[in-house]
Amino acid sequence: MDYKTYIAERLSVEGVSKEELAESIVVPPDTSLGDYALPCFKFAKLLRRSPALIAQELAERYPADGVVSSVSAVNGYLNFKIDGRSLAEETLARIEREGERYGASDVGAGKTVCIDYSSVNIAKPFHIGHLSTTVLGGALYRIFGFLGYRTVGINHLGDYGTQFGKLISAYKHWGVKEAVQEGGIRAVNDLYVRFNREATPEMEAEAREYFRLIESGDEEANELFEWFKSLTMAYVGKIYDRLHIRFDSYAGERFYIDKMQPVIDELKEKGLLVESQGAQVVDLEAYGMPPFIVLRSDGASLYATRDLAAAVYRKKTYDFEKCLYVVAYQQNLHFKQLFKVLELMGKDWAKDMVHVAYGMVSLEDGAMSTRQGKVVWLEDVISRCVEKAKEVLEEKNPALENREDVAEKVGVGAVVFGALYNNKIKDIVFSYDKALNFDGETSVYVQYTCARAASVLAKAGGSSLGDAVCAPNAQELEVLKSLAEFPDAVLAAAKNYEPSTIARFAVDCAQKFNKFYIECKILQAESEETRAYRLRLTRAALTVMTTALRLLGIGVPEKM
Ligand code: ARG
Repeated sequence: MDYKTYIAERLSVEGVSKEELAESIVVPPDTSLGDYALPCFKFAKLLRRSPALIAQELAERYPADGVVSSVSAVNGYLNFKIDGRSLAEETLARIEREGERYGASDVGAGKTVCIDYSSVNIAKPFHIGHLSTTVLGGALYRIFGFLGYRTVGINHLGDYGTQFGKLISAYKHWGVKEAVQEGGIRAVNDLYVRFNREATPEMEAEAREYFRLIESGDEEANELFEWFKSLTMAYVGKIYDRLHIRFDSYAGERFYIDKMQPVIDELKEKGLLVESQGAQVVDLEAYGMPPFIVLRSDGASLYATRDLAAAVYRKKTYDFEKCLYVVAYQQNLHFKQLFKVLELMGKDWAKDMVHVAYGMVSLEDGAMSTRQGKVVWLEDVISRCVEKAKEVLEEKNPALENREDVAEKVGVGAVVFGALYNNKIKDIVFSYDKALNFDGETSVYVQYTCARAASVLAKAGGSSLGDAVCAPNAQELEVLKSLAEFPDAVLAAAKNYEPSTIARFAVDCAQKFNKFYIECKILQAESEETRAYRLRLTRAALTVMTTALRLLGIGVPEKM
């Protein structure tokens, strides 16, 4: 049961809706006074009474029932204690009924959320800098889907620009077909890097010509471009598979080339386009921002122009409720400008555009990162983490079956979790050792806890557990409260675009389960009733922790 809603239904505060009341109810950090609390401070002005008095009155009027065992007013807070037995009954029954859908809802029914994430650049390295956008976006995609939204995952490919002319020139001079086919994106990138180091002025001119040829539909130039693109997509596709990431659209920058003109015309009509040093710009000085450049002085479009056309196209095509851009904070200004220009164009949906900004990821183990200015490929980080996971598992459990499969789940999970555990805007220093610590705030800790729960359940065999329930002891109560919190954690993650809420939930739940596991006998419980009840609790915890990890894109091995 959702206790916040349940309590709100039974309260009445003049001029405050039930929804607002439910949203105001919190889980206090110290639960000795209550499991839930309503701070009454914000009602003081409205009701013209002191918070203490409001809490007092509400406490007196709260109807007695079997769910809330006590209500008290302390210092402007209204505290609720939930009856343990009712909590156990309700929570376990609901999780058993809903299974892996527990925490899901239909709040998003009929609404669409577009999520622009990962957005790779063709023929460029897919590096550690792409980790956060890929896994954050992937998690938001699943979380919104879980809440009933229609989700549109968009990989806004970086597939347009003069760099492709350079690449063709480099390939023509130094490339060997078989070697590039074999070496894939890394070989392609090497060519590009070499061009930037060694190109002569003649080659630069040639590169401009090749770019022009791509644009004018020249067959050979386009075939080469498509080849580089397919090598890139095959490469990232494998990584997406490992990370359980998917997209509904790969409409990238090139897709918008023929969709820019109507938007530019509209800007002109609305008197927003001005000339500045030969370029066409939207002046944003009044908003404290540099001009938004729409066309360069040579008439060429920019990344920003393509994004403007893309936004208009997405609204028209998907009629989104929200359009998210999961892009690093380095592009804060770009998105602020973009959203402002849409607003100035009179698009009332400009307010539904959200830049989901995140911090940088770097490696603690710097040896591998910036050697000779080399990039850290995400694939290498994942593979290395899976290798290390294998070593750790070997040490922990030499007899483990399916080691490869388990190591893949543990290693990939550690990389994903590393990027999702902290508030997204924070810079992260990734450490293989910390990420693979069985006793840390890690995915492997949660996975291990799941395996532990699964093993208890396996030992219990298929015995029917019925609806056995006891009044919970302290450890059981903590687990139950945590499980009851899960639906709220999912909602909060979506509301704040913050999957870390679910990652933190998973660790917290695992910690509480482990305390219960260590301090309470499950299989050897005092009575049959208690045994069945504890097994139900174990099964429910396993279900919920598994769902939490699944929403983040992390698999759960059956045994570890
Ligand atoms: N490819 C871009 C980059 O690597 C990110 C694109 C983000 N999406 C967008 N619609 N601008 O910086």
